[in-house]
Amino acid sequence: MSKTIIVSNRLPISLRHRNGRFEFKPSAGGLATGLGSIYKEGDNIWIGWPGNTVDDPEQRAEIILELHDLKMAPVFLSKEDVEEFYEGFSNETLWPAFHYFTQYMIYNPEHWEAYVRVNQKFCDAILKKAGPDDTIWIHDYQLLLLPQMLREVLPNATIAFFQHIPFPSYEIIRMIPWRKELLAGMCGADLIGFHTYDDMRHFLSAVGRINGLSSESGYIQAENRIINVDSFPMGIDYDKFAKQAKSKRTLSFVEEFGKQVEDQKLLLTIDRLDYSKGIPQRIQAFNQLLEQHKELHGKVSMIMIVVPSRDKVQSYKELKEEIDLLVGRINSEYSTLNWVPVHYFYRSFPFEELSAFYNMSDIALVTPLRDGMNLVCKEFVASKTDQTGVLILSEMAGASKELQDAILVNPNDRQGVVDAIFNALSMPLDEQIARMNSMQESLKKYDVFQWVKVFMDRLDHVKKKQEELTSK
Ligand code: G6P
Repeated sequence: MSKTIIVSNRLPISLRHRNGRFEFKPSAGGLATGLGSIYKEGDNIWIGWPGNTVDDPEQRAEIILELHDLKMAPVFLSKEDVEEFYEGFSNETLWPAFHYFTQYMIYNPEHWEAYVRVNQKFCDAILKKAGPDDTIWIHDYQLLLLPQMLREVLPNATIAFFQHIPFPSYEIIRMIPWRKELLAGMCGADLIGFHTYDDMRHFLSAVGRINGLSSESGYIQAENRIINVDSFPMGIDYDKFAKQAKSKRTLSFVEEFGKQVEDQKLLLTIDRLDYSKGIPQRIQAFNQLLEQHKELHGKVSMIMIVVPSRDKVQSYKELKEEIDLLVGRINSEYSTLNWVPVHYFYRSFPFEELSAFYNMSDIALVTPLRDGMNLVCKEFVASKTDQTGVLILSEMAGASKELQDAILVNPNDRQGVVDAIFNALSMPLDEQIARMNSMQESLKKYDVFQWVKVFMDRLDHVKKKQEELTSK
């Protein structure tokens, strides 16, 4: 019986040290939920980094045992691996390149060597578990070399790759000295998925120009195999958000939080700390709204949740300082004894409380400068069970291709964002409901379980097609 192995840099849990011991915190992320239906079945397993360094061999052995019961296997990263592979090549070269922040890109050959070394580490860990005919589904930009590394040892395995972040134009990819190796690494897969059609097109163009591989109708002709490339926009667990928003616990938070912001319209923003999210630009737009519309003072406030992330990377540290400064400025300029323009939280919240924030907010302001998909906007829509509320969404988020009933904005057009907020504040109820209803219908249909199913069905189809071709 063949099995399915899921691989991602992070496991769907994180390991934390506490008082000399360790504990696991399950991740509530969308990917973990969507893939739960796969890795928890039969002999299937999820392989990845538990999110912390563990040097003690005894502790490692204990962790392996505990994770085994959760259907997971760890890849342990050393301190150097974390610095050079995770913070370095993944997040100081690939992340900025793929999000078009070329000014933050670092070209460090030692980081590249670490990237190769750690991808190999993942490959070795997988080979300990994988049989020749297993299915291996690899996720995201930290592991671009892995499909080819595995293909060399397991020529008949079914290998899929999904990229969760954007894939930029050839003009950006060509800036990376190791571009050819990276693209060849991805081409070890049978199926390569992206969130949007544009990402897919950029990839095909780069592979054609850099690796000389031509393609037709989404099929790349490699030396002795075909590789299918397509877009599969990821959804959320719609029912989970809709149900939670109506739960007693969430409603009691709505009541409790609501008392503290009575008679105010609420704008909600939730992001991981990241320069790709356009957080400073959003604060500036809100500042400009308050400058231009004095009548809104005391009547509207922004709830801004920033979830700590990658805080050892220089560009993230600087961003944190910039946000702190901007929030300080706007609040010190406009606050009164009973009104604070920006309620800023630099931490994560439990699901029930997040759900309360979605439920009670009038507007979600989701304005990344670049985003592969963005699930926050989808979670907001799913949580609006009475169908009131307005989504303002950046054209630069993959989700904007699906959520055409949001107010779409260019996040670099500050006045455009200001006007969008102003219009959202006065949007008639029937229009809010009509827009929300249409977005909800599509998110309900294309939820994360459907995404997994469509992707896996396609993988089956590609494998069959390959077998037909080789038996001819
Ligand atoms: C994005 C990436 C993921 C990554 C996540 C959190 O969503 O696509 O691959 O895991 O951010 O970032 P972190 O660096 O904490 O894993």
